[in-house]
Amino acid sequence: MSADGEADTGFTDEEGIPFVGAGPGDPDLLTVAGRKLVEDADLVVHAGSLVNSELLEEFCADAEQVNSVGKDLEELIPLMTDAYESGRTVVRLHSGDPAIYGAALEQMDALAEAGVPSYLVPGVTSAFAASATLRTQLTLNEVSNHVVFTRPQGRTLSAEEDHISDFVGFGDTTVCIYLGTHAVSETMDRLLDEGHDPDTPVAVVYHASWPDEDVIEGTIETIGEKVEDAGYRASALVIIGEAVNGSNYERSFLYGDWARGGDAPNDEPDTETQEPDNE
Ligand SMILES: C[S@@+](CC[C@H](N)C(=O)[O-])C[C@H]1O[C@@H](n2cnc3c(N)ncnc32)[C@H](O)[C@@H]1O
Repeated sequence: MSADGEADTGFTDEEGIPFVGAGPGDPDLLTVAGRKLVEDADLVVHAGSLVNSELLEEFCADAEQVNSVGKDLEELIPLMTDAYESGRTVVRLHSGDPAIYGAALEQMDALAEAGVPSYLVPGVTSAFAASATLRTQLTLNEVSNHVVFTRPQGRTLSAEEDHISDFVGFGDTTVCIYLGTHAVSETMDRLLDEGHDPDTPVAVVYHASWPDEDVIEGTIETIGEKVEDAGYRASALVIIGEAVNGSNYERSFLYGDWARGGDAPNDEPDTETQEPDNE
């Protein structure tokens, strides 16, 4: 509610160009706000093959659609600016959530410099679709207390900036690797060289939530060869950690004695819900 008692306008009524998360692929995983925005658009600039063409056909077949892959900012910004200034409704559609390896901010800042406002509309990131596919949780009581979204070394990250080995070394952390499908074997070889348990579970979820979704399960020792045999070089999420198996967890406090009125756990309760913080 705003100060004058009016309902907040929300994501669909802001001024400017929305940077919308399209979700992982299945059109049903586009948010309601994202769908409304895309349905109203005259121009949709989308992130190419990671945005399911079914979604574009279903929600914005009548809009002009431009694939941003291969276009630099010098081309994209005038394209969006000119359309916006001529009164057209423009949507920038990113895969998953724009906040994860989306390079949204550099476009938004360039638009701002050109005098065009923009804002973010979240989406379902592919790690969440992958964990749903695996029927597990990325955090799991007594198994994994933390989640990391990361990427392997390559053109963007130097070897020193690649922290996958450190994250796996924490033990109670689920490591979700984006942009690493082409490098699963190399990544696992490095983990083996650095002394990590070869039996640590790893899952590779290709095209999570797409009709051709595929899951390859293995361990640090076995997954590289399996992914190579399958031939995947892009569009998969690599998840390392015991949570991949969705087993060996302990019951949480939420459905235990505390929730039935027993002793409160030592954890600090969430002040809004009065629930323990490990629900
Ligand atoms: C440029 S990043 C964009 C990530 C996106 N912003 C997100 O939140 O999912 C592209 C990488 O995301 C992952 N990815 C995107 N969609 C995927 C899907 N449906 N299934 C599995 N991995 C996916 C892959 O690792 C891919 O290399």
